[in-house]
Amino acid sequence: MTKILQVKQALQDNPKVWLVTGVAGFIGSNLLEALLKLNQRVIGLDNFETGHQYNLDEVKGLVSAEQWSKFEFIEGDITDYSTCERAVEGVDYVLHQAALGSVPRSLANPIKTNAANVTGFLNMLNAAREANVSSFTYAASSSTYGDHPALPKVEENIGKPLSPYAVTKYVNEVYADVFARSYGFKSIGLRYFNVFGKRQDPNGAYAAVIPKWTSAIIEGETVFINGDGETSRDFCFIDNVVQMNILAATADDEAKNQVYNVAVGDRTTLNQLYFAIAEALTECGITINGEPSYRDFRAGDVRHSQADISKASGLLGYKPDFKIGDGIHQAMPWYISFLSSK
Ligand SMILES: NC(=O)c1ccc[n+]([C@@H]2O[C@H](COP(=O)([O-])OP(=O)(O)OC[C@H]3O[C@@H](n4cnc5c(N)ncnc54)[C@H](O)[C@@H]3O)[C@@H](O)[C@H]2O)c1
Repeated sequence: MTKILQVKQALQDNPKVWLVTGVAGFIGSNLLEALLKLNQRVIGLDNFETGHQYNLDEVKGLVSAEQWSKFEFIEGDITDYSTCERAVEGVDYVLHQAALGSVPRSLANPIKTNAANVTGFLNMLNAAREANVSSFTYAASSSTYGDHPALPKVEENIGKPLSPYAVTKYVNEVYADVFARSYGFKSIGLRYFNVFGKRQDPNGAYAAVIPKWTSAIIEGETVFINGDGETSRDFCFIDNVVQMNILAATADDEAKNQVYNVAVGDRTTLNQLYFAIAEALTECGITINGEPSYRDFRAGDVRHSQADISKASGLLGYKPDFKIGDGIHQAMPWYISFLSSK
């Protein structure tokens, strides 16, 4: 039996209380769905800054009434300390996802990004420490590798940050490490690499590449590729991310006070990505109109990204079940249905 199956069995036999911050967002709502399906109790915190009530409503429709009754939602902001204190009461495991994502958003408004990602993070970390929670797992980011040229990315070798967003995610790691050394409060940081899947928002100026292109193709709009299309990423399907959060939350003490890459270990160029999405949509009966249009490289973006996932495999038993192609085939029907219901 794989490690994740053993852990899921243990959780079902002995359910826990989880706090998921950013629960109305993409990753948070997928964590909520997975945890409720394992019959866990979940407290969710969100201020709906980029998350949506309809994500929570969708999860409600995907779990049983009994499972849904184990969910308690707090609408609130992590920059408010008393809200964080309230949210961590009686919690075993914290999965801290709330933050303002997107490199371009942070370049446009570094102050707001810092408030949510640094002040909000510190509030959550300290409130969790004071409440003596069993574990604190937080969303770090592959952007922390910055300008370090080595590929694949290994956790200990990072470069200079290339955006305010990357600074905030690096500061999270520094605070987490200081809390372990100063207070003995050990957490785990998950450096996500370009996560994608259902409920990732296709709308708005700061949409991620897969939902943005998928929605453009379905709606017959032009797909813009930044640069020459040879920029590459290690795209990671959401189910792999859910697996890592559950493994991290339940990890032994020796695996804590660490950061881990969360990815697949593959590299896909934007050109390859476009064709993979177009092919999967064609198989779903969508007509592809025209060719993608190339434009300038985007400020703050790293050229190539690919993870070494051996640390997560070795210390946490992580085994990504989904490669990019599997994930795209799973996600496309959701986007077709989501966009047609709008
Ligand atoms: N999606 C990715 O590829 C990726 C990659 C690296 C890191 N991350 C990190 O993963 C986490 C989740 O990202 P996501 O893709 O689900 O984004 P998302 O925008 O869908 O979710 C973030 C959620 O946090 C909430 N939030 C933001 N500020 C808040 C505040 N001040 N108080 C309370 N709630 C607040 C938003 O309303 C939203 O529901 C973030 O920390 C992000 O930085 C994501």
